[in-house]
Amino acid sequence: METTTLVVFFLSLLVSGSYSATFTFTNKCPYTVWPGTLAGSGPSAPSTGFELATGASASLDIPAPWSGRFWGRTLCSTDSAGKFRCGTGDCASGQVACNGAGAIPPASLVEFTLATNGGKDFYDVSLVDGYNLPISITPQGMSGCNTTSCPANMNSVCPPELRVRGSDGGTIACRSACDAFNDPKYCCTVSFGLPSTCPPTNYSMVFKNQCPQAYSYAYDDKTSTFTCTSSNYLITFCP
Ligand SMILES: *[C@@H]1O[C@H](CO)[C@@H](O)[C@H](O)[C@H]1NC(C)=O
Ligand SMILES: *[C@@H]1O[C@H](CO)[C@@H](O)[C@H](O)[C@H]1NC(C)=O
Repeated sequence: METTTLVVFFLSLLVSGSYSATFTFTNKCPYTVWPGTLAGSGPSAPSTGFELATGASASLDIPAPWSGRFWGRTLCSTDSAGKFRCGTGDCASGQVACNGAGAIPPASLVEFTLATNGGKDFYDVSLVDGYNLPISITPQGMSGCNTTSCPANMNSVCPPELRVRGSDGGTIACRSACDAFNDPKYCCTVSFGLPSTCPPTNYSMVFKNQCPQAYSYAYDDKTSTFTCTSSNYLITFCP
């Protein structure tokens, strides 16, 4: 009896002592967004893709340790063959759930590494894979942690050679120079494969000028990485 009580006690300690972070997604865009989630390490998030109407919010609890990314898909619909696809940020799963598939660039990304037991979480907004919509991360419930965001509408200032156009000719996303030109100096590969040999370029500067807090290319300076401890996070589309 006493042993059983002890076991139950330690089991409940284990459960209550395990860390998880609540991610709340809010859509302030004047259009529907379909968030996608992709785990890098750790299990899949409780949802790998869902619909978020204008003004709607939804939450996911993710146990730490975990790393992964979130993004927003736009201009999605189901075609006559029953295949779900999106104009931007598509994960090509054919369904609303991404099921382990990532965003096809260009897409604005938010990236997280969640620590256990009082360690530091790391998070950033990344435009390394291009941009499709404004996005922000706001730590919730912990003071002294900073919001990071890319609040700008990059689609309106995107260089013509990087624009992705929708069926009506309007710009729906902005490619990274690496994605568009596959040039080592933009991709930080080959002889440009080190932070010291891959300086900012005229194209990465366009992204950095619009969104100074976000990663504008692979070896952007480390000021784009943020930390917080034992926090929950709000992710806002069109903050
Ligand atoms: C938040 O930003 C301020 C001002 O840039 C900085 O001094 C502070 O160290 C940042 N806090 C964290 C936890 O990054
Ligand atoms: C960036 O520089 C290249 C030449 O190195 C030029 O062809 C291109 O037009 C420039 N783009 C922008 C956006 O300044």
